Amino acid sequence: MRTNDPQPSQWSSRASRAYDSLTKKIQLRNAQIIVATVGDSEDPPRRIYEIGCGTGALTQLIVEKWPDADVHASDISPAMIDTAKSKPELKSVTFTRCSFLEAATESATYDMLLSNAALHWMHPHYLQVFQTINRLLRPGGVLCGSMAGRTSATDEFDQFVAQRVVRHENETQFTKRRATPAQVRRLAQGAGLIPEDVYLLERHEEMARLDFISWMNVSGGREPQDGLTAPLIRGLGDVVNVVHASVMMLLRKPDEL
Ligand SMILES: C[S@@+](CC[C@H](N)C(=O)[O-])C[C@H]1O[C@@H](n2cnc3c(N)ncnc32)[C@H](O)[C@@H]1O
Repeated sequence: MRTNDPQPSQWSSRASRAYDSLTKKIQLRNAQIIVATVGDSEDPPRRIYEIGCGTGALTQLIVEKWPDADVHASDISPAMIDTAKSKPELKSVTFTRCSFLEAATESATYDMLLSNAALHWMHPHYLQVFQTINRLLRPGGVLCGSMAGRTSATDEFDQFVAQRVVRHENETQFTKRRATPAQVRRLAQGAGLIPEDVYLLERHEEMARLDFISWMNVSGGREPQDGLTAPLIRGLGDVVNVVHASVMMLLRKPDEL
């Protein structure tokens, strides 16, 4: 496992349960867009692979949309996978605990790869992420997904949060993980994929302070008691205007000549 990957111990089962309830506020909406984007334009996929499935929010939509597909889902966190596995509606899914960067799964056999809010956790190994996507897709197959996006509003928001945690800093640890559509297009092309549709989706959400702090903690794989929480509780008002930005992407592996 690489040093930048979250350590399994950081993704406790407590955090995964908290994540599972908070995910409905934000991640589920991206998951719905991802499934709708590929839903009607493709032949029904026979083999699907989900990267960083977490507690199974997107997995559930995949199973509902393509009940006959052979669905594989992986995540680096045992606690997140355990929560996903415990859901009766996901019993047909094959779950694997692994880092996607080391996915030892058969090459070029998947019609579709899907991923919501996970690829940015593999920073700084982004080229390797897109190369692995290319390796797993069959020719003509697609990846549809989202990763954390960077905009002027997220820069301002990260600066606002950073200054309440460590004064005089303009970025959070998360800022470096954020990508722009131009970066994603370059990375995809560098890995031999065709960027069919890559765009930013930015939302501004009002969240109760404690909901925001819990969500930040569990999304980043940290326990709620770490050094971030107390300064945030002291520094933030009752309501936080959260800026949530994603790069949404539909990438295709070229057909064989
Ligand atoms: C913000 S959560 C998103 C989970 C889920 N896709 C959703 O939409 O709710 C990020 C997930 O990425 C997983 N993750 C982080 N690094 C990973 C890696 N190298 N390989 C596979 N999964 C990883 C984390 O364990 C976590 O479950």
